[in-house]
Amino acid sequence: MCGILGYIGDQSKTVDVLLQGLTRLEYRGYDSSGIAIMQDGRSKVFKSKGKLSKLKTKVKKHSPKGLLGIGHTRWATHGDASQKNAHPHVSGGTSVVHNGIVENYLELKNELKKKGYRFYSDTDTEVIAHLIEEMSNTGLCFEDAARAAFKRIEGSYAIAVISDRDPDKVIATRKFSPLIVAKGDHENYLASDVSAILPFCKDVIYLEDGDVAILKRDEIKITDLDGNQIKRKVKSINWDPISVEKCGYRHFMMKEIFEQPRAILDTIRGRFSEETGDVYFEGLDSSFFKDVQRIVVLACGTSYHASLIGKYMIEEIAKVSVEVDIASEFRYRNPIIDSKTLAIAVSQSGETADTSEALLEAKGRGAKTLSITNVMMSKIARDSDCVIYTHAGPEIGVASTKAFTTQLIAFYLFAIYLGRIKRKLTKKQSIEMIKQAISIPQLLEITLKLNEQIKELAKEFFKYRNFLYLGRGINHPIAFEGALKLKEISYIHAEGYAAGEMKHGPIALIDEDMPVVLIAPGDGIAYKKILGNLQEVRARRGKVIFLTSDPCAQELKGIVDRVIEVPGSSYLLSPIVSIIPLQLLAYHIATYKGTDIDQPRNLAKVVTVE
Ligand code: AGP
Repeated sequence: MCGILGYIGDQSKTVDVLLQGLTRLEYRGYDSSGIAIMQDGRSKVFKSKGKLSKLKTKVKKHSPKGLLGIGHTRWATHGDASQKNAHPHVSGGTSVVHNGIVENYLELKNELKKKGYRFYSDTDTEVIAHLIEEMSNTGLCFEDAARAAFKRIEGSYAIAVISDRDPDKVIATRKFSPLIVAKGDHENYLASDVSAILPFCKDVIYLEDGDVAILKRDEIKITDLDGNQIKRKVKSINWDPISVEKCGYRHFMMKEIFEQPRAILDTIRGRFSEETGDVYFEGLDSSFFKDVQRIVVLACGTSYHASLIGKYMIEEIAKVSVEVDIASEFRYRNPIIDSKTLAIAVSQSGETADTSEALLEAKGRGAKTLSITNVMMSKIARDSDCVIYTHAGPEIGVASTKAFTTQLIAFYLFAIYLGRIKRKLTKKQSIEMIKQAISIPQLLEITLKLNEQIKELAKEFFKYRNFLYLGRGINHPIAFEGALKLKEISYIHAEGYAAGEMKHGPIALIDEDMPVVLIAPGDGIAYKKILGNLQEVRARRGKVIFLTSDPCAQELKGIVDRVIEVPGSSYLLSPIVSIIPLQLLAYHIATYKGTDIDQPRNLAKVVTVE
């Protein structure tokens, strides 16, 4: 959940590269940060509690200069959010930044304490610094000392380290935590996340577990933990550097909401034929799915909500039975899995620990595996038999928006793909469904025009302390997602329910202080039923915000407090449209409340701990 960075090259650039890179990583964790710069053969460390801006002010005051440095932005796991627990951690001349967890840190700490090492922080990371220092003290060179120390560490980690003993190198390693290195011109980079270095270079190497990278100004050497040299492929990243900038928007979240028409287009582009009705995914082979009899989908948070909608799509189109599991629960029951089960892991980041572990559990029980993820070469992508990449581009706002809608469209295309394999769809039907998918970006453009209206609505409602969201059928997970968006960024208590459940409990909450968002696109049975819920809410003086595509809904104006009218779409794709006003509503309410929208309290973009 933390972000790490390393740079070696041009003395005049080091501080700037580190601070710029950390700015781009700050979305991963933001309770403290720090850098170490190698200046005149000695590392200088700067750390700060709180937002990165504090570290920047501190660093500016001292204007350090050096050929190389490492940096870190933290989301506390071991030890509270404080300056002493911020990285880098130092032992003698060794400075270390670390993502992940050292599982055997207590054992190592006791051993090192006995040898006289003093611990200043409450973190597990500090043992790594002392361990490398200890190995160096036995006479090993920096490279060998680092490798010897890495061998002793159990757990999941990405580590970068510099040493005063060998001040022309940055050394890094990884296990179960992402780390890339990238080559520049007389300069080299390392980062836990591509977005951190996107503006500087595009050719990157994804390190594998157990790789040790030694970065010098003109060379990147990769070895295993025993020092044997390894060759790794260089990959070119096609994300646009502009995608990690705010581009005039006040917040990444708003920018990402408005990017959705483009992101949907990028996710469907080149994956279908309008003539034949066929769907293609690079790297997927239809024979792999022929004998699939049931599907389990594993995900967390917003990705879980997308999966609940994916279930409707797959069951409706491909007629294959789908169960959706909260990934963190999956491992702790005894799931029935066999070789005819397809497990689909859904994750924006491809790194979420719960989803990753659930995927491995399903795989271990014999399931075929597929992942739907936004991040190339992420852990979940690499651990699955095949991958469908959503092409949302980097998502920086902690509250997921474009990742959600691109997951939905990916599910929809996959359902058509599977439906064709299972012969549950005629060519004519799939051509029609593809046409509907193609129409979505334009429908989203129209929906985004509601922005000003939603802003007004938010002004009226931002002082309420509780919200209820109700939806039916394929839009009932939109109630969950709308409520999650609101609570994440505005800290207002919000509940999402399947509307039919209202009378089984939540109705007790309804009074004049409870705004109820009724999600009712379409005109089918779900719509008719929700009109019944509307009357029930009104009868209890609840305030109703009515989201619909029914053009006659304006006639309901005497009954409902506010109408949000979205354009009509096919039933299966309607959630992609209905979520847009709810993302905007959460955003504007949070703006009126003055919360930190892109980096809400206590959250991290990527949750790499269970
Ligand atoms: C969404 O707004 C959240 N920040 C969170 O629920 C997120 O969707 C969840 O942590 C799963 O992340 P993933 O998609 O990267 O696996």
